[in-house]
Amino acid sequence: MNYIKKELLAEGAEAKIYLGEFNGRKVIIKERIRKKYRHEKIDKNFRKYRTRREVKILKKLREIGIPVPEILYYDEKESIIIMEYIKGKKLSEILEKLDYISICKKIGNQVAKMHNENIIHNDLTTSNMIYSEGKIYFIDFGLSFVSSRIEDKATDIHLFKEALQSKHWKIFVEAFRAFLDGYSVVKDFNKIYKRFLDIEKRGRYK
Ligand SMILES: Nc1ncnc2c1ncn2[C@@H]1O[C@H](COP(=O)(O)OP(=O)(O)O)[C@@H](O)[C@H]1O
Ligand SMILES: [Mg+2]
Repeated sequence: MNYIKKELLAEGAEAKIYLGEFNGRKVIIKERIRKKYRHEKIDKNFRKYRTRREVKILKKLREIGIPVPEILYYDEKESIIIMEYIKGKKLSEILEKLDYISICKKIGNQVAKMHNENIIHNDLTTSNMIYSEGKIYFIDFGLSFVSSRIEDKATDIHLFKEALQSKHWKIFVEAFRAFLDGYSVVKDFNKIYKRFLDIEKRGRYK
């Protein structure tokens, strides 16, 4: 396949993220890396499975109209995904400067759509969102999975709340209220919200 890795942008626990070129286009290349402590064959299967899962989720989200990078190429055996490069800024860097109320409401709305498809992001933070031409793109679905459990949806909300509270403490109260407002259209909102409050309590008494 005709792609070039140009610059290593990030090295996570599971994958390396490169800026690259594919068919003359600026792209992001995500390559899952080998874990030496895992048996080679098991590791290969694991990376293959994770790559397949991430591709499926990204395709589904695009289908239902949630802004996510388009997948341009993937290879399960090589455990790489080549995706569209989203030009913009990480939301974590600029949320306060934007109309954060309407943006957080919009994010809540998109997360509700995701959850209605039983897709759990599992790493919802403003660092995993890119602000591009007025749209919020979601990225980093490496830990995402499919589940209809109330607990998993409530945990997603809890994690986002924690992220807002630590990164955006100045606007946190209003921002989280706006997020919930947007999110309230989700199926089973009352059940999820109650469970979210339970999770918060559990955390406090740990
Ligand atoms: N499709 C994309 N378009 C533009 N930038 C991206 C894209 N995917 C990832 N990035 C950049 O690379 C960084 C790391 O990618 P990410 O998927 O969040 O992995 P991790 O957080 O596990 O290192 C992001 O914070 C973002 O700056
Ligand atoms: Mg990330």
